[in-house]
This record gives sequence, C-alpha cells and structure tokens, in this order.
Amino acid sequence: PRKVRIPHLHAMKTEGRKWAMLTAYDMYAAQIFDEAGIPVLLVGDSAGNNVFGYETTVPVTLDEMIPLVRAVSSAARRALVVADMPFGSYGASVEQGFASAVRLMKEGLAHGVKLEGGTAMVPLVKALTDAGIPVMAHVGFTPQSEHQLGGYRVQGRGDAADALVDEARALQDAGAFAVVLEMVPAPVAARVTEVLSIPTIGIGAGNGTDAQVLVWSDFAGLRSGKAPRFVKKYADLRGTLLGAARAYAADVESGAFPDTEHSFES
Ligand code: KIV
Ligand code: NA
Repeated sequence: PRKVRIPHLHAMKTEGRKWAMLTAYDMYAAQIFDEAGIPVLLVGDSAGNNVFGYETTVPVTLDEMIPLVRAVSSAARRALVVADMPFGSYGASVEQGFASAVRLMKEGLAHGVKLEGGTAMVPLVKALTDAGIPVMAHVGFTPQSEHQLGGYRVQGRGDAADALVDEARALQDAGAFAVVLEMVPAPVAARVTEVLSIPTIGIGAGNGTDAQVLVWSDFAGLRSGKAPRFVKKYADLRGTLLGAARAYAADVESGAFPDTEHSFES
C-alpha cells in the first residue's frame, strides 16, 4: 500500500476530505488501525494513563516513549506515525527539544513529532522543520500543563478565542504540518480550521475541523468508568476481555480446558 505522506494530508484539506487519527502504543493496535486505513497514528504520551498506569501524562519519559514509537512504526505499513514529545523532553531550550525529537526519529523510527504549546514553541518548531523533522502542533487544552491550567478545562472560550487563532497561525508559520485542537468550542475550532492552510485535528473540538483524533483505549472501550464527553465508544473491548478471562478461568477450574482438541495426545 502507498504510504501516507504529509502532502496527502494537505491535499485532503484542499479537497475537503476529512480523516481520522487514532493513538497506538503497540504492534497489534498499529497493525489493525493501519489495515483499517487510518492515515495517521499518534504514539501519544497518553501512554501515561493508557499503558503505564499513571494518573496523567506528566511522568512519561522519552525513554518510555521510544520503545512504543518503535513498535508502532515497525508495525505500520501505510500510516504516518507521529511521536509525542513527552513533558520535560522539550521546553528548556531549542537544543534540548531538538535532541529529543532526533531520538524519536532515529531510535523510535517516527515520521514526525508532536509537541504541546503555542507561541513559545515557535523557535523549536522552526528548528525542527528546518532540519526535516515534521511537527504536529497541539493547542487548546494541553494535558502536559494540566497542573498549570487547573485541570481538564475547555480553552479558547470568549475573549481567549482570538489568542488561540493567533497561536495556531504562528505555529503554522513556523512550519507545523498540522495542529491538534483539544477541548476548544466547536465554533472556535471551525474558525481556526478556516484560517489555517494546514489540517486541524480535533478532540473535543466539534465537527468543523479537518480531522479527528481519539485515544484508542477510549474509542474501543477499554477504560473502566466514565469517559470524557468527547469520547465515542465504538467497541466494548473491556467487556469482551472480561468475559473471555472469566470463561477461560472457569474452564480451567472445571477441567474443561484443555480438551483433546487443544492437547497433543501422542
Ligand atoms: O497523547 C495523546 O493521545 C494526544 C492526543 C489525544 C491528541 O495528545
Ligand atoms: Na499527548
């Protein structure tokens, strides 16, 4: 299959064709979503609360991200694989962020990186894109700053909308190839989408963006308890696996498994 490249994403915006992005953290998810035709896979630092069992994305390190990125990149045949820069791996200086992005590309085999933040990230986005590293920006609610932002809150409401539009534009001008808009009022996200020439990817940002993204464990129903409002559950993997594990345990306990069909009789 023909590999998805950044010009394809830009062409889809021009043609008004919407597309879906999913996160992936391992080989099977990457294989399946790739086979389904999902054009972009994000190895999100949402691995913090979806793989590693942390409460937030804040503790995730570059050393933790790299094996996940490598697994997804190795498994995807067609999809563009974007690696999240984890909290603390950039933001101190352009040099620091540059070195971290290079590790995600060289060791993780990523096709591009994603980083959170607005105007402050412009010099890093410039440096990375000048060096041939594609950058996906991420504005609106930025989970790595949740302690600063006071929790999961919609961003860009009211007077803050203009600043959000300006931020997105500055990131585009710095060279970003796409921008994630997280938890932004739908009309504001639609306005950003109209103003920008690069694709916008919404999560909790309404239906007016060029693309959408969901965390795969959320969309597939792996999580226990209530999901955020912007998540739509497309499967009940938690229920499926729960049933399977209980059935297996019961079969072992009763002696029903393994039967002769699953044994070597000679
Ligand atoms: O880490 C992540 O999964 C993300 C997406 C939700 C955009 O940053
Ligand atoms: Na992230």
